[in-house]
Amino acid sequence: MSGTFRETIRVRRSTRRYADRPVPDDILAHLLEFAARTPRLTDVPLRVTAVSGRERVARILARYLGVYGLVQGAPHLLVGLIAEDSDRARLDLGYVLEPVVLEATRRGLSTCWMTGSYHPERAADEVERGPNEVVAATVALGYAREDPLARIHDGAVRRLVAAHRRRPLEEIVFAGKWGVSWSPEGADPALVEVLECARLAPSAENRQPWRFVVESGADTRLHLFLTYPSPIDAGIVMAHVALAGAEVGWDGHWALRWQDPALSGAVSAPPGALPVGTFSGSPRRHEDTKKNR
Ligand SMILES: Cc1cc2nc3c(=O)[nH]c(=O)nc-3n(C[C@H](O)[C@H](O)[C@H](O)COP(=O)(O)O)c2cc1C
Repeated sequence: MSGTFRETIRVRRSTRRYADRPVPDDILAHLLEFAARTPRLTDVPLRVTAVSGRERVARILARYLGVYGLVQGAPHLLVGLIAEDSDRARLDLGYVLEPVVLEATRRGLSTCWMTGSYHPERAADEVERGPNEVVAATVALGYAREDPLARIHDGAVRRLVAAHRRRPLEEIVFAGKWGVSWSPEGADPALVEVLECARLAPSAENRQPWRFVVESGADTRLHLFLTYPSPIDAGIVMAHVALAGAEVGWDGHWALRWQDPALSGAVSAPPGALPVGTFSGSPRRHEDTKKNR
């Protein structure tokens, strides 16, 4: 195991071809246990379980859905179940499952988030479920295949969705009010690092729907909005902010303000921007961080 979450965020990428190499049981058990104790944003019951075995996983993965094609050879599938079919539950699932993806990456594993390329009803058949539990997302898990054919396939899909591309911070961050330009030049380095880690988050079809409004003061606040409703993507980017924030000494926490018009009003967000929540706290100065160690 190696690397901080910030380093891991920079190397993680979606993998769609997996090697015929089993994941040790203790690592899989660790990841499920990690999911169970990851902090939450809501009290909606949710959990992460795993389907193991190439054939069982292949039965769940879809062949010809959209741009992605087949995710092949994954020995495990993490399955996210929510006990309430709501946006809030999906958001929280993103918040819980993304740290597991990063923890897996830290341990040398590869992953691919999937909300499209699988059959939800087949996934539901393969796991024990409570009466109200719904499968909301899956993550392929295993070791990446490194041969040239696998690289060609992964490369082709990545080009199709421009997976390597991320919008620059200047495009997704505003200063104080919606539409007011913000620049990393001269901004607090801790804040810039947290925003950089947010920018690198994965999103469905790499659409990067998140926008931030930064309110600076004694207490820095990051208000999060979405350009279209995609609660899992929101949860994922919120996890990146919280994990990177903790590592740079930003003692912050998220307050969920899902679809709260007061948040839109406070920063003059346009009607199309969906309010999600506010991360607040003070990025501690470097000297403070050292003092408090
Ligand atoms: C919520 C979510 C759903 C996704 N669904 C799929 C999917 O169904 N099939 C797939 O091949 N990739 C899927 N992806 C992977 C994205 O295409 C990928 O994260 C994005 O292109 C950025 O590339 P990267 O993860 O390599 O940085 C999904 C990602 C997220 C976050």
